Amino acid sequence: MPYMIERPARVPSTSRFLNPYVICFVVVAVVVILAVTVALLIYFLAFDQKSYFYHGNVEILNVKYSDQLNSPATQEYRTLSGKIESMLSKTFKESNLRNQFIRAHVVKLRQGGSGVIAEIIMKFKFSRNNNGVSMKSRIESILHQLLNNSGNLEIDPSTELTPCGARSDLITLSEERIIGGTKAEEGDWPWQVSLHLRNAHHCGGILISNMWILTAAHCFKSNSDPRQWTVIFGISTRFPKQRRKVKTIIIHNNYKSATHENDIAVMLLDTSVTFSKNIHTVCLPMATQNILPGSTAYVTGWGSRKYSGSTVTELEQARVNIISNEACNAPNSYNGAILPGMLCAGVPEGGVDACQGDSGGPLVQEDSRRHWFLVGIVSWGYQCGLPDNPGVYTRVTFYRDWITQQTGI
Ligand code: ARG
Repeated sequence: MPYMIERPARVPSTSRFLNPYVICFVVVAVVVILAVTVALLIYFLAFDQKSYFYHGNVEILNVKYSDQLNSPATQEYRTLSGKIESMLSKTFKESNLRNQFIRAHVVKLRQGGSGVIAEIIMKFKFSRNNNGVSMKSRIESILHQLLNNSGNLEIDPSTELTPCGARSDLITLSEERIIGGTKAEEGDWPWQVSLHLRNAHHCGGILISNMWILTAAHCFKSNSDPRQWTVIFGISTRFPKQRRKVKTIIIHNNYKSATHENDIAVMLLDTSVTFSKNIHTVCLPMATQNILPGSTAYVTGWGSRKYSGSTVTELEQARVNIISNEACNAPNSYNGAILPGMLCAGVPEGGVDACQGDSGGPLVQEDSRRHWFLVGIVSWGYQCGLPDNPGVYTRVTFYRDWITQQTGI
């Protein structure tokens, strides 16, 4: 009997434990915790991918080296680099690293023992649990199969690679970035410098080597004493990334301010600037390079946003089109003032142009391999942004040999 009495007393506790709501809650909680754990594990093991850069040299044996391959401005250089890039891409896309391979880019071509050596960077993405050393040997073995002769691979020296005319997004092999708005971002125009005269922005300038700046001759009208000038690097003139003093200023000895003829000058730095992905050179075109009317170009600078406005502290950019000298010399335009050493660029409706304070800065165009070439130096214009009075630039191809004579570049 006592048992009979005790049993009903236990029933409520048992039934509370077996309460369907409680069971349901516990089951759901366990499932949720498990799912979150599994999801996090999968994420960290498979999806938390990091970019890895490989720098290597590959020797191309069936191509003979020629001087044409020395400069990124030649068609030969572009064609061969493009071929090597698509061959590497194809090989990796057909290999067991097809999901990890992102892009390959040729940074430089040089003469090899029995062919051409291409310096390449390659970008891969893989999860952190994959170890870098084994990835490196997998990449190497694929390269070896392809070339049966490949140099060494190094991991991530990408900061040392600063080919001319490469914006920082190309150096990091990022997806194509759209140039939007007017404000530039760090690394968008790594060759743009600001020339300060006694601590104030006076002109733009263009980095063409770690010692030389290209600019406009008219920037030195008021002062050509190198000791008064400083070169400022980075997109903000208030918070420079680097600065250098100037040793020598060389102004074209036929510069004529009345006609703006030969508006070109170079400056030698007193110590070399340290290149980075945000500070390095633009590519110079060959003297024979054709600049096509109607093609797109970008002008950058800290100049004023309207005629007789004040200069700005953050670098800006504008997209313009090349205009033929013939059209630019039309009676309703510059009526014959555009000489062969000049180049016009603007937009038909006006409103987009360089302006005061942009002088000496770059007008650049992108080639098929996303390297940027200098085509003009901001020189003059009638006011700013008028529809029939586009910006006038010093034509860089016309002065290509002068630049070599002065700087050896
Ligand atoms: N001469 C001006 C300067 O010293 C540049 C003029 C450019 N003007 C133009 N409309 N694009 O900064």
